[in-house]
Amino acid sequence: MDFTEQALAGRLSGRHIGNSIHFFNEVESTNDIAFSLAIHGASEGTVVIANRQTRGKGRLNRLWQSPSNCNLYTSIVLRPETDPVFAPQITLLTGVAVAELLSRRHLADVTLKWPNDVQIGGKKVCGILTEMKTTADRRIDFVIVGIGININMRKEDFDDSFRESSTSIKEETGGDISRLEFAVALYDHFEKWIAIWIQQGFSPVGEAWLTYSHMVGKRIQVASHGNIQTGEMTGIDDDGSLLISDDSGTIRKILAGDASVVKH
Ligand code: BTN
Repeated sequence: MDFTEQALAGRLSGRHIGNSIHFFNEVESTNDIAFSLAIHGASEGTVVIANRQTRGKGRLNRLWQSPSNCNLYTSIVLRPETDPVFAPQITLLTGVAVAELLSRRHLADVTLKWPNDVQIGGKKVCGILTEMKTTADRRIDFVIVGIGININMRKEDFDDSFRESSTSIKEETGGDISRLEFAVALYDHFEKWIAIWIQQGFSPVGEAWLTYSHMVGKRIQVASHGNIQTGEMTGIDDDGSLLISDDSGTIRKILAGDASVVKH
């Protein structure tokens, strides 16, 4: 079936995530559109989806390569009643939803790399960019969850700088994937994990996240603003930060950075 707003609306009818759909052929960034819709009152569950982004945003001011007709670029509006300090849990929850979806599609070796990458065989297939607006009294006004998944992109189409470190579902399975089917399944899994998080709190999300993490118990390094911290990854904290045990055995919390396993 075609990848159109009408087809998507038909498949998402009655769902919470996708109760309002904004479908575009081309945008600068679905996150920016969702942010502006949320400022103007868009309800929780509103989704923005585009065939192409001209300025797709990645974490740490990086660009997210977003060519037309092959991948999924979507942003979801949430209005959770939680303290802003726990908003990073939503990034982790989204990673779990995507990793579970990929695993159910029989993709082997699906892992989560803190804070926001989903990988297949150690190569990045999905990035998540969560942005938030708070109110004057320090509550969450809304959170935008941006998800980019490389679906049918071919290896030769990746920019040189990420070709070796990235992959797509097509590269891993050999077959063309329907973006419509995949988007519907993604919103379903996301809706399921949001419900678990609201009803049971972070604990099941954190546990599921750790089952997909290949770094727990390993010696890792985390680079942040030119500073590198090294230690054994022991877990993640309730505020979504990474916990490492440094060489003196002190547990340190890391709020942001790029983590990698130290090779011997
Ligand atoms: C990262 O890995 O650095 C995060 C990448 C997030 C990309 C997605 S694509 C849909 C949404 N719109 C954006 O501009 N960025 C996110």
